[in-house]
Amino acid sequence: MEFSNELFEICTCRRFAVKIDLSLEADNNVRVQVANSAGTTRGGRRAMQRRPAQTAAGVSGNRRRIERCMIEIRPVQSDDLDALYRIALATGDGGADAAALYRDPKLVGHIYAGPYAKLCPETVFVAQDTDGVGGYIVGAANTLAFETRLEAEWWPDLRAEYADYADTPHAERTPDQRRVHAIRQPRRTPSEIANAYPSHLHINLLPRLRGHGVGRALMDRWLAAVSESGSTGAHLATGAANTRAIRFYTAYGFRALALVPHSVSGAVWLGIALRRDGPG
Ligand SMILES: CC(C)(COP(=O)(O)OP(=O)(O)OC[C@H]1O[C@@H](n2cnc3c(N)ncnc32)[C@H](O)[C@@H]1OP(=O)(O)O)[C@@H](O)C(=O)NCCC(=O)NCCS
Repeated sequence: MEFSNELFEICTCRRFAVKIDLSLEADNNVRVQVANSAGTTRGGRRAMQRRPAQTAAGVSGNRRRIERCMIEIRPVQSDDLDALYRIALATGDGGADAAALYRDPKLVGHIYAGPYAKLCPETVFVAQDTDGVGGYIVGAANTLAFETRLEAEWWPDLRAEYADYADTPHAERTPDQRRVHAIRQPRRTPSEIANAYPSHLHINLLPRLRGHGVGRALMDRWLAAVSESGSTGAHLATGAANTRAIRFYTAYGFRALALVPHSVSGAVWLGIALRRDGPG
């Protein structure tokens, strides 16, 4: 994504859109103004390195100019599924590209993307720019009910496709084998977490969309959707090493809840309480 060194703007459109206005100030901070479809706004500033003036065809590098880059936040559509699977893999190693880790490129998406798009598309939103869908937020308003639906409607076909590796000690399993084991014997969310924070989510952006307020815009839209369905809170699990994501969630208002039991990577649960009119 290219930005002018004077001003850039990311606009979104459609029914559930948010509009994100970003302008570069004299101190090299970017002013971020987010307006949701209800017309309310929230602002913020972030440090951003000023780039030298760019030269494009017919445009002098010294000439003041404005570029507009359209990023749309919209509900998922059935033909987004391949993009969701690609993004899940491209961010599947604690936020980094996991493509080199897996022989089967669909395993990560089978767990973290596909079932949400298929079973609860009303709580799945994507971010799309001129290069296509580059990010998503997926989740379920009612985690315990979703896990019950997974058992009935999602895992059976995959279990027929993938043989288990239960006989292989965990430490000796390959990444593919660990994912297959998670498909065959998924862990249920602890009831203390799911009762207090009934909804859960996963959010992933390709590198080109990170750091420009798109994550915050997706989170706003998703939390509004689960709030509207009556949820009183949302949770997620993230690797303790994914410091970027933890900073993002903490800046948004999530708080650490507890260590994830049996986690090899030291994952943590984070939660946010919801009021009827949004995050509290
Ligand atoms: C984590 C992620 C979703 C954040 O989305 P993002 O669009 O990059 O974040 P935003 O630009 O919306 O930032 C929102 C806030 O988070 C904070 N934040 C985000 N990235 C940060 C960073 N690297 N350092 C410090 N704060 C950061 C900022 O304070 C920002 O607040 P502001 O809007 O008031 O300035 C995105 O970077 C991502 O997809 N990463 C890779 C995949 C991943 O790790 N997913 C999470 C798995 S659990």
